[in-house]
Amino acid sequence: MTSIAKLRIDGATHDLPVVVGTEGEHAIDISKLRDTTGHITLDEGYTNTGSCRSAITFIDGEKGILRYRGIPIEQLAANSTFVETCWLLIYGELPTHEQLKRWSSLFTKYEMIHEGLYHHFDGFPSTGHPMAILSAMINAISCYEPDLMEMESPTTFQISAARLISKLRTIAAASYKASIGQPIIYPKPHLDYCSNFLHMMFSIPFGDYEPDPETVAALQLILILHADHEQNCSSSTVRMVASSGANMFASCAAGVCALWGPLHGGANAAVVEMLQNLHDNRVDLNDYVARIKDKSTSLRLMGFGHRVYKNYDPRASIMKERADKLLSKLKGVDPLLEIAKRLEDVALNDPYFIERRLYPNVDFYSGVILRAMGIPVNMFTVMFAMGRMPGWIANWKEVHDSDGVLYRPRQVYVGSGPREYVPIDQR
Ligand code: MLT
Repeated sequence: MTSIAKLRIDGATHDLPVVVGTEGEHAIDISKLRDTTGHITLDEGYTNTGSCRSAITFIDGEKGILRYRGIPIEQLAANSTFVETCWLLIYGELPTHEQLKRWSSLFTKYEMIHEGLYHHFDGFPSTGHPMAILSAMINAISCYEPDLMEMESPTTFQISAARLISKLRTIAAASYKASIGQPIIYPKPHLDYCSNFLHMMFSIPFGDYEPDPETVAALQLILILHADHEQNCSSSTVRMVASSGANMFASCAAGVCALWGPLHGGANAAVVEMLQNLHDNRVDLNDYVARIKDKSTSLRLMGFGHRVYKNYDPRASIMKERADKLLSKLKGVDPLLEIAKRLEDVALNDPYFIERRLYPNVDFYSGVILRAMGIPVNMFTVMFAMGRMPGWIANWKEVHDSDGVLYRPRQVYVGSGPREYVPIDQR
């Protein structure tokens, strides 16, 4: 039975339908509110607004639950591969053997980028940020391979989605090589998705990088854990752009730009910088936490707290658990991991953090793992983008397959009232 919320405005009562999600979330449907009452709702920063109905990812921030298409993130992290998780997110079901085989073969078939695209890397200064390059190059692919824009049939959509995810790693690695002045390395078809990326990042013309299983497993884990996160800033951006009818490439390039910001994808780099600074300056962690609580300082505990989680971010728990094992194999004891764990301990025993329900989020441990894999700090957000691409594509598809409503929020205007234009010599 549909329940109804009652809203009283100026003595009149209005009925508003209550929509209930499959996990019991309740939302008041206000889509007809302006037509019936003349009012809109105001929710700056969308802290309490459901912008869409989506069947992709579920988060219970109070309980620290994250599921992709109903499957707990813990199970995917333990059993799946990134390529399989991409299929799950985009198509809603785990693939069969046949589906996975074809899907993987598409990744291999389309791993190269058009030779003309490589010349674009010469046009970027070596100081150019890899996220700027990534976003520009995603848009540029569609100029070189116009057939990618044909996505109306299930087959052409599948090919385009696989091509985008596959080429993204080639572009990401090439942008790194260009930034350090090394020749770009071509992909190798016999390598899996993660090994191939590591090969393109770290091989040189006279020496092949042989990725060890721990590094490949670490990359696999990082990509799976970042693959989607319901209506985060970049996925909402992708949906917004997609709603105008923009193609998947343009929409995902916009997602990259949204992710670039330090409040979103850039936070993992900030965590490593903070840990490095604490290490280099031998800062006392109790003292550091005390300074963070002091409102007169602008210090923040990077990688702590999340807009949705009021509990431990499940992705951070998985990473913390795996970080020890991975790091001891990859580089022995990492002093930054030790500092991170001690810092977490100090914070989580402090009433300030307990009362505010501030827990480590995904960024708290991911940077330490990426660092141990040899990924430079300015590539951290690019790694996040590689992981998030299937989530963006799944969101793009959901909008594309829906009834085609253009996303168009309203606003409360707070500027000047009507006034006359003043000619320039009278101002
Ligand atoms: C993410 O994974 O996108 C971040 O945790 C941010 C968010 O969900 O808002």
